[in-house]
Amino acid sequence: MAKSGRSGLKKNLFAVCAVVAYALFGSASGAWADEEAELAWKYHCVTCHGDKGVASSDRYPNIAGQNVGYLVSRLNYFREGQEPGNQMNAQAVLLSDEEIQRLAEYFSRQAN
Ligand code: HEC
Repeated sequence: MAKSGRSGLKKNLFAVCAVVAYALFGSASGAWADEEAELAWKYHCVTCHGDKGVASSDRYPNIAGQNVGYLVSRLNYFREGQEPGNQMNAQAVLLSDEEIQRLAEYFSRQAN
């Protein structure tokens, strides 16, 4: 698609941000919590859903504080591409089962 060049640049920017964020906040402990937050940055979830799962625009749903099981099932649904054209399909297709689980746990833990 035509936008691939720009999204490649964005990807790099986000990789840099993730590394900086990790260096600033991630060094205190090697706990899962940090790795999960890092995943949310790595996969751009925070771009649309906010870094704590509360979206800054009403175009995107808030996912903070939602049940883990619900978030996992939604991400599996998107990953399988059951709804052609859904914006989330391209996001979820990149995720492994373990990443889905961790991201769901991370956003579920955030206050909504
Ligand atoms: C480009 C913007 C964008 C990005 C990046 C993005 N999302 Fe989404 N997300 C959306 C939109 C739009 C919807 C609403 C889709 C729908 O429900 O049909 C959505 C829906 C969801 C839902 C379902 C919410 C509900 O109430 O059913 C979950 C869970 C979710 N996203 C998680 C994630 C995760 C985890 C990531 C990172 C891997 C991510 N999203 C990245 C735009 C985005």
